[in-house]
Amino acid sequence: MIHPSPAERAAELRDRLHRYSHAYYVLNAPLVTDAEFDALYRELVALENEHPELITPDSPTQRAGSDLSDDFPKVRHPAPILSLSNAYNADDLRAWEERNLKLLPTGTTLDYTFEPKLDGLTIVITYENGVLTQAATRGNGEQGDDVTPNVRTIRTIPLRIPVSGDDPPPARLVVRGEVLYLKKDFESVNRRQAEQGLPMFLNARNAASGTLKQKDSRITASRPLTCFVYGIVDGSGIPARVWDKQWEMLGYLRDLGFLIAPGSAYYPTLAAVLADIPTWEARRDALDFEIDGIVIKVNDLRLARELGVVGKDPRGATAYKFPAREASTKLLAVEVSVGRTGRVVPNAVLEPVFIGGITVSNATLHNYEIVSMLDIRIGDTVVVKRAGDVIPNVIASLPAFRTGDEQPILPPERCPFCDTPIIKPEGAVDYFCPNTRCPERVYRQIEFFVSRAGMDIEGLGSQTVKALLDRGLIRDEADIFFLRAESLLELEKFAEKRVANLLAAIEAAKQRPLGQVITALGIDGVGSTVAEALANHFNSIDALAAATVEELQQIEGIGDILARGIAAWFADDYHREILEKLRAAGVRFQGEAKTQAGDQLTGLTFVLTGTLPTLSRDEAAALIEAHGGKVTSSVSKKTSYVVMGDSPGSKADKARQLNVPIIGEDDLLRLIRHGTST
Ligand code: IVH
Repeated sequence: MIHPSPAERAAELRDRLHRYSHAYYVLNAPLVTDAEFDALYRELVALENEHPELITPDSPTQRAGSDLSDDFPKVRHPAPILSLSNAYNADDLRAWEERNLKLLPTGTTLDYTFEPKLDGLTIVITYENGVLTQAATRGNGEQGDDVTPNVRTIRTIPLRIPVSGDDPPPARLVVRGEVLYLKKDFESVNRRQAEQGLPMFLNARNAASGTLKQKDSRITASRPLTCFVYGIVDGSGIPARVWDKQWEMLGYLRDLGFLIAPGSAYYPTLAAVLADIPTWEARRDALDFEIDGIVIKVNDLRLARELGVVGKDPRGATAYKFPAREASTKLLAVEVSVGRTGRVVPNAVLEPVFIGGITVSNATLHNYEIVSMLDIRIGDTVVVKRAGDVIPNVIASLPAFRTGDEQPILPPERCPFCDTPIIKPEGAVDYFCPNTRCPERVYRQIEFFVSRAGMDIEGLGSQTVKALLDRGLIRDEADIFFLRAESLLELEKFAEKRVANLLAAIEAAKQRPLGQVITALGIDGVGSTVAEALANHFNSIDALAAATVEELQQIEGIGDILARGIAAWFADDYHREILEKLRAAGVRFQGEAKTQAGDQLTGLTFVLTGTLPTLSRDEAAALIEAHGGKVTSSVSKKTSYVVMGDSPGSKADKARQLNVPIIGEDDLLRLIRHGTST
């Protein structure tokens, strides 16, 4: 069929789209990328617009998708939960405005709101007399799943409105919003999954959907979802102006205590909207949340209502979709990299493919668990996604394209760089090269040590590190501090001036604050936040190195696995050698001397337990130390006082057993003020 007729083409498109949605929604095994699906869908919509007689009742354009599940009671929405038409370029948007103006009285002008198109899932929330009574998913647009207990756990959704102010709440209010993970929260959820040895989520939207549809709302509560609200579906007792203008509606929702998406704005003309779109494509990566486009809405809601609805899309709003950041290509080979912590990561070598402005030929496959979960094989056609600035991801394979020659991807048995047998620690998702002296690990660690995230030694990049290692001028990161001008001059492109600058930068790095030094050591799981906490708590590398797993666990944010990892790092001979060399070089091993505010607590030893009314554990400890006292983690006969807050642990029982006095936060403050707790 070289030139199919419109009817033949429409039939083929219907057929393909049916197969692709079945594979995607039912089989959970996509056959094409979202972008390819979209393109075919758009073609069918265009064809049907041109030839309305070709529309069949079973055309995929005639139904809105449904996400109903059998696990929840159903809720009927007070009004259909509509979707949005799409625009892909400025011409589409101009044509959209033209079509609308033709339907409105001559002389009408239109102004607009501009809202980020949040890449999450719709939620419909009902308030009666200001109290949240029900929340439902979009479902099929007519009825949704009742997920009220789950929605109650989302902190950005007020349980009662207005959150502040004296105005009475509206008698009834049904709002519509989008539930999603902020980028940072999605990362932390994945970190936790990894720490617990559970599979990682690849797609924030799917993860948010799964979280919202948990049968056990405690699981939802343990995961930090966010909700932005952008519209009112129904209600009574709402000021008239709110029904007149979308911009007023957003302001009203904000005043009631809802979160409105940052970046929402008012635009007097479509030209002004068009002028700003390019800056949005650039701002996209800097936002805290994922967006897949921009929603442009006719601000005058009376006109928008007059414009009506086509199918399931209101004419008064449209979504300008950003170019897809997904494409399919062939997975040619897998290369294994070993990181500074020994983590073995499979990387995809791809047939180069153009995705949203750049050519991609490498992508991460994350880990072997994900590879096997997604059943990705060498030779497969795979879907590659580029999200933000991070390395592109392989997110799916398309088994329909298999020829039978594809090869499985298996973890290496031995480290490709040092031949040490690879291990998989109990409970871990990843495989590791356990050899701390592995040349690749050493190289990657030095590279990290000198980087901005580490000791920040200016003028010392990866290439120079490599050259220094190759010439045997350094063997580990500590050797950097013993480099001499004569040896640096041996390096290519290093003349006097550059050498002097580098030596000065190395000298300066010795004075980096303790937290930064701890970060630079490159202990797995110890990023700058944890390193700061360790520096604050121990105030010296030696105290940290001597800490037991139990002591480490006392610190906020440090769990069992991380505590063990830190202790194991300091127990390693190679790391001890490096520490001794760093000490000898004069690298800072001590925190700032703590300023002594007083000596009221000198000679006293405290143990903290439970949540104190105003002070965090760290603040209380700092206060005690600043006044000459000591804080320890376990109660003994030598303990002077146990400071107890809400939900104390077993330490309170221990104190009672040993007759150690138990005091509260107010007694502690009194002790500091007067030197006595009474
Ligand atoms: S308005 C009648 N506004 O995009 C109005 N939708 O592709 C219909 N979405 O189902 C929706 N951000 O889940 C609207 N600021 C926003 C949005 C938004 C994200 C989602 C929504 C909708 C989908 C349509």
